[in-house]
Amino acid sequence: MLYDKVMNAAEAIKSRISCRPEVAIILGSGLGEVAEHLGQQEVMPYADIPGFPVSSVEGHAARLVFGSIGRKKVVSMQGRFHYYEGLSMKEVTFPIYVLKQLGVKNIIITNACGGINTSFAPGDFMLITDHINMSGTNPLIGPNDERFGRRFPDMTEVYDSALLRFARSTAKELDIPVREGVYAYFTGPCFETAAEIRAYRTLGADAIGMSTVPEATVAKYLGMRVLGISCITNMATGIAKTEHSHEEVLAAAEKSSKSFCRLTEKLLADFPDN
Ligand code: HPA
Repeated sequence: MLYDKVMNAAEAIKSRISCRPEVAIILGSGLGEVAEHLGQQEVMPYADIPGFPVSSVEGHAARLVFGSIGRKKVVSMQGRFHYYEGLSMKEVTFPIYVLKQLGVKNIIITNACGGINTSFAPGDFMLITDHINMSGTNPLIGPNDERFGRRFPDMTEVYDSALLRFARSTAKELDIPVREGVYAYFTGPCFETAAEIRAYRTLGADAIGMSTVPEATVAKYLGMRVLGISCITNMATGIAKTEHSHEEVLAAAEKSSKSFCRLTEKLLADFPDN
């Protein structure tokens, strides 16, 4: 049963790690450096956590890094799981259940993604205001365990408005420009066609990517507060003049890594208490 699997994983972590984090951050492709900047680091490789899948995608390490920034205790996921790897949605979102069980109340979910809004440019950061799930599936499909959450969870405000205000003012303080918009999720692993991007724009999407939505949906279901931050690594198909590659995505994310670290470290250090 999922519940027992989650408890088992959380116990294994608690028996090895002394940090009890309140805030988690999932680090997207090429954005993993933040974890290196945590003080009093404790590391738990995914391979040592019972029930955790192992990530296979280049640009993603595969470990939880616990530590502190200022007075805040933080856990970062260096490497995440994607549906396109052939994992089930329950496997993709398993870490979120475990983080909740560790006492995490707030989660910053980050990603590298393609820009659909033509006023965006590669290198921009986008605070996620809402999402569109284009995957045709949902991580909450299957028997519901009321110990986690409700059968029909509300999704009015997946991305917490107070956290959005906090992120806006923090970015301003640091003089880091941030955009805002709707993130559309589809499964990948291929990049989209130009016709798909035109369709998604008509549907109201500002950016497109292959992650975040499964995790955000489960985090909301579990009663966590979510802040979503995208790094626009390229303009989406048909807007971009050149073909896409994962190498291009990683290189662009790494180029933004310095200001991404500045922004996320300040967000973590100043994170508002619940
Ligand atoms: N599409 C989907 N996912 C992505 C993209 C994109 O253009 N860039 C980075 N991740």
